[in-house]
Amino acid sequence: MKPMLNIALPKGRLGEKVYAMFESAGFECPSIKENNRKLIFENEEVGVRYFWVKPSDSAIYVERGAADIGVAGKDILLEYDPDVYELLDLDIGKCRMAVAAKKEFRDNPQRTLKVATKFTNIAQNFYSSKGREIDMIHLNGSIEIAPILGLSDVIVDIVETGTTLKENNLEVKETIFPISARLIANKSSFKFKNTQIEKIVRELSAQIEAKND
Ligand code: PRP
Repeated sequence: MKPMLNIALPKGRLGEKVYAMFESAGFECPSIKENNRKLIFENEEVGVRYFWVKPSDSAIYVERGAADIGVAGKDILLEYDPDVYELLDLDIGKCRMAVAAKKEFRDNPQRTLKVATKFTNIAQNFYSSKGREIDMIHLNGSIEIAPILGLSDVIVDIVETGTTLKENNLEVKETIFPISARLIANKSSFKFKNTQIEKIVRELSAQIEAKND
């Protein structure tokens, strides 16, 4: 019997795209398409076991070896700095990390800037590199509300289409970095299941190249 490769997929739209890429690469697992609330699916013949995890958790599963490989956004990798190998930019799940504020907001560099975000490490590094003093407000979601209610001056958050900002009368003031989904591997799995992992990397790379041709 083949050794099973454990793969953490981010639950949701991005995860479905990622699964489609794995499926085209020959690592199919038809039961994953059944309409139920199961979280773990395997195909012994091919030697894969997939599980749906919260997107912000996939790097934890991989770092600790519960998953051999997985997919995480560059935002999560930069925020939590997990001890994993980043193998491939999957060129999907593209968005950006940005500073946003009310349209009329004008920064006064003499004042401490109030920053609301889920990504406190990213925000801290960004403002430290500018030598700017900030008052960090950690929130868990719906960050866009903070500047509207005067809880913060700006937010540091993910912008994809820009619709959420627009509908809340906010705008991007500065882009911090572009984001896309990355294939990551547990360091010891990369050694011990190298043949399987390298095969996946080769197949996925070929798909990405073909798409960009
Ligand atoms: C993210 C992000 C923004 C939104 C941006 O939220 O925090 O709110 O998507 O997308 P847009 O530019 O296409 O409008 P998410 O859905 O992850 O939920 P959250 O409120 O928990 O952050």
